[in-house]
Amino acid sequence: MRLLAIETSCDETAAAVVAETGDAVRPWEIRSSIVASQAAIHREWGGVVPELASRQHVRDICGVFEAALADAAVTLEEIGAVAVTQGPGLVGSLLVGVAFAKALAWSRGIPVVPVHHLAGHIESLTLAHGELPMPAAVLVVSGGHTSLYLIPEPGQYRLIGRTRDDAAGEAYDKVAKLLGLGYPGGPAIDRVARTGNDRAIEFPAARLTHADRNAPRATADGLLPADIARRIDFSFSGLKTAVLRLVRERTGSPPAGKAAAADSTGAVLPASEIADICASFQRVVVEALLDRTFEAARWLGAQSVGIAGGVSANSRLRADAAARGARHGIPVFIPPIALSTDNAAMIGAAGLRRFRSAGAGSWDFNAEASLALELR
Ligand code: KG4
Ligand code: ZN
Repeated sequence: MRLLAIETSCDETAAAVVAETGDAVRPWEIRSSIVASQAAIHREWGGVVPELASRQHVRDICGVFEAALADAAVTLEEIGAVAVTQGPGLVGSLLVGVAFAKALAWSRGIPVVPVHHLAGHIESLTLAHGELPMPAAVLVVSGGHTSLYLIPEPGQYRLIGRTRDDAAGEAYDKVAKLLGLGYPGGPAIDRVARTGNDRAIEFPAARLTHADRNAPRATADGLLPADIARRIDFSFSGLKTAVLRLVRERTGSPPAGKAAAADSTGAVLPASEIADICASFQRVVVEALLDRTFEAARWLGAQSVGIAGGVSANSRLRADAAARGARHGIPVFIPPIALSTDNAAMIGAAGLRRFRSAGAGSWDFNAEASLALELR
């Protein structure tokens, strides 16, 4: 079967055609994947403006859909089902995709399949590399989420760790903004950090093992001992504040709550200092992500580690993850960059997985800004 997938959860309008292969190890292949990014529109505002995002999705979706069919060289009659991101995300943006997908499927008399955005990121791994050795520990690290899942078998997603405050991508975007590096911040910091000294500044690493942070909370099905489960939660807001404090000190304390004033180039500090801050910030983020992921993998006896989501495009995260995998003797899987950041092909993969295990969605599902992180 060929499935058409739609993704509009944030600021990318995306459509893809994904086909089943009949091969159990590599179950799907991408026939086309079109992404229209709105980054240029939101850059002016320093971040995604939800109302502008929804309007742009409305403008772009028909063209993106047509391009996906044309690129795959298929007609609408050859599409057997439509998958769409139901949530989580910006509700106005999600609604455009959900309404489009339902109308399309209804008019063609074919099934519509709602997909959890994070299931899409997780399935980008299988789409790119084939089924992972199970059980797999998968880190989903994006602008909206930093969550660690155990995949005991294909299609089952058990949440075992998550951020207590900011997502890692959000921290990248906020730090880039206060350094005057623009939006989106992740790729900018990644680039600038290459010329910096990652030991120039000792930013605090988030430690969550303090007694006062150890309030008991339920673990996913008792999958991990409680003390370990608490240790593998993430936190990035303290790090972000530390960068803000440093920038204020070095630029001469602008008013509380405001980023330092940028010069005409947009930079707040000399380029070499910015590079050192970026490299030092990035080292702490990457270490926090990998420490917890590999610790969880070890405790859970995972046979593989997967890293997906927009931040998995980060060059240092990719390199360090591969090095750790080699050291720990555990294979590490990361999607190619086009499948790391938001795209519809991954939604197609998760949609086919779900369609084959649970069938079509009902016609009355709605866009959901927040959907439980715990997927079953
Ligand atoms: O998965 P994604 O495209 O959208 C969400 O679901 O949130 O992730 C976007 C996030 C943004 O925060 C962006 O700054 C970050 O991924 N990102 C990166 C890189 N490329 C994108 N972060 C670090 N390094 C990168 N190279
Ligand atoms: Zn995403």
